[in-house]
Amino acid sequence: MKSRMILIIAVALLAVIAQYAADDGGNGFPLGASPSPNPAANPAAAIRMGKALFWDEQTGGDGRIACATCHFHNGADNRTLNTINPGANGKFDVVGDAGQVFTPRTFSPQFDDIVGSQGIVGSLFVSVNSNADAADTCTPNETAPFFHNRRVTGRNTPPMIGATFNRQNFWDGRANDNFNGNDPFGNTGNQLGAVGAVVPFSSLASQAVGPPNNPTEMSCEGRPFNGPNSLAVKMLARQALKLQVVDPNDSVLGAYRASPTGLTKTYAQLAADAYGTGVVTTDNFSRFWGLAVQAYVSTLIPNQTPLDKFMAGNSSALTNNQQRGLGVFSGKGQCSKCHAGPELTDASVNFAARRGLINEDGGDQGFHNNGVRPTAEDLGRAGKGPNGVSFSQGGSKFDRGAFKTPGLRNVNLTAPYFHNGGKATLAAVVDLYDRGGDFANPEKAKRIKPLGLGSSDKANLVDFLTNGLTDCRTANEQAPFDHPSLNPPNGAFVPATGGTGACQ
Ligand code: HEC
Ligand code: HEC
Repeated sequence: MKSRMILIIAVALLAVIAQYAADDGGNGFPLGASPSPNPAANPAAAIRMGKALFWDEQTGGDGRIACATCHFHNGADNRTLNTINPGANGKFDVVGDAGQVFTPRTFSPQFDDIVGSQGIVGSLFVSVNSNADAADTCTPNETAPFFHNRRVTGRNTPPMIGATFNRQNFWDGRANDNFNGNDPFGNTGNQLGAVGAVVPFSSLASQAVGPPNNPTEMSCEGRPFNGPNSLAVKMLARQALKLQVVDPNDSVLGAYRASPTGLTKTYAQLAADAYGTGVVTTDNFSRFWGLAVQAYVSTLIPNQTPLDKFMAGNSSALTNNQQRGLGVFSGKGQCSKCHAGPELTDASVNFAARRGLINEDGGDQGFHNNGVRPTAEDLGRAGKGPNGVSFSQGGSKFDRGAFKTPGLRNVNLTAPYFHNGGKATLAAVVDLYDRGGDFANPEKAKRIKPLGLGSSDKANLVDFLTNGLTDCRTANEQAPFDHPSLNPPNGAFVPATGGTGACQ
């Protein structure tokens, strides 16, 4: 009897694994290494430089905004004061006005508001200042709809944890896989200057050079990255993390910790450690900013989830109900057709290598219109860059309103969901799929249609998503997810963490 039970469980396990292999073109578990290169003389020192830059509040034009300011909570942002963007109609439907507290909830489909992340108060750049002053000199440019409030992004902040596996980054994939050293756009035609040799598989580096001088996110408008009076001049001269506390057990920065705050090194010293003396200058800083931040973000791999343990053969890593949920995920829910392979997304480097650049509807691989919002509100993959070139590579109509399939690791920790942040819970996400989307967009992916899930199917699927995909090191902010302290505007203080601790 007992051996028969074990046989049944073993057969069920094999069936799940076989389904995965079929959906991802053979790219099975375990999750592999980061595909992003770290071309430094001293790769560990590049990770160090990247981690310090990512968390450093001095980067912001007001001396208060780091990359981490919108990515501090399990890689995403859970602030609720002043985080609504009014969306296509320009009206704050759910909170009445800019700068209000938002009580997390699922939006009624009639509202086009977006749960975004706040960056900087609108202003125009004049100059960077001496080391004593983290803020730049700027003049006010407080424009509608945010005026004196911090500007809020028009899309929800996805976690950067695990983003190393994405072939292209951002919801529309505009952070190109070929890094050009200056801007996110590779050599697609949208690049802002001449492009020399590009670095392939480097979407994270392309991504990382976007926000620092963006006038919604981190900077007063008009601050250059390189050259005189630039972010390069500002950062290279400064003590790294001068305004923040580093935990003595920080897995990357602990050994370089200064007391009471910051590191013992300037960014010029960190850059020389990583790339060699005299290599990084105020004229090429953006290239090394991109590569160093990519090196750090590529270490954030959440591969110790119950699903990983289950797929490695530990059949008790998921409860019976979670295993049933996994069965719905890879079976009648058809979730794993798009959330494929160990990356849980068809937008991965691996999936494109195995299945090509065009998806089953004819759109760009890894991008789909799920009927989350009306297509015209945000064209997503079919949007255009600064030189008017579409991000869509194949030009299919299925790229209109299509967004990148998110990898779902840690998804329980990163509400709200979808590109607009319009769903507050995983149950609300599953309900949207079960009814085949909220809007009957003509470009909707063919697979997004009513699923006929029963209530126990839905409950098991939500249980699997909630409890089967969390890496407890992420939840506990332990290495590699440990970090310096952060003081996000309009959010609670985030203390420094460090070390490995006890995570089962
Ligand atoms: C003001 C808030 C804000 C700041 C500051 C910010 N981000 Fe983001 N981040 C976002 C938003 C919003 C998106 C999604 C934008 C989009 O797709 O159009 C995003 C997307 C990303 C992604 C892509 C993840 C994916 O799955 O596509 C990465 C990686 C990332 N950010 C890293 C960084 C880095 C590195 C910095 C600093 C150089 C930074 N962010 C600064 C809000 C922010
Ligand atoms: C046709 C491809 C496709 C299928 C099938 C699919 N997804 Fe998705 N999934 C996506 C895309 C694309 C997005 C982003 C859509 C957007 O924001 O507009 C997404 C978003 C999500 C999110 C939100 C994640 C976040 O961080 O915001 C969750 C959760 C999710 N899907 C779970 C599921 C589940 C569960 C199923 C099966 C019932 C499923 N998906 C089926 C492509 C797909």
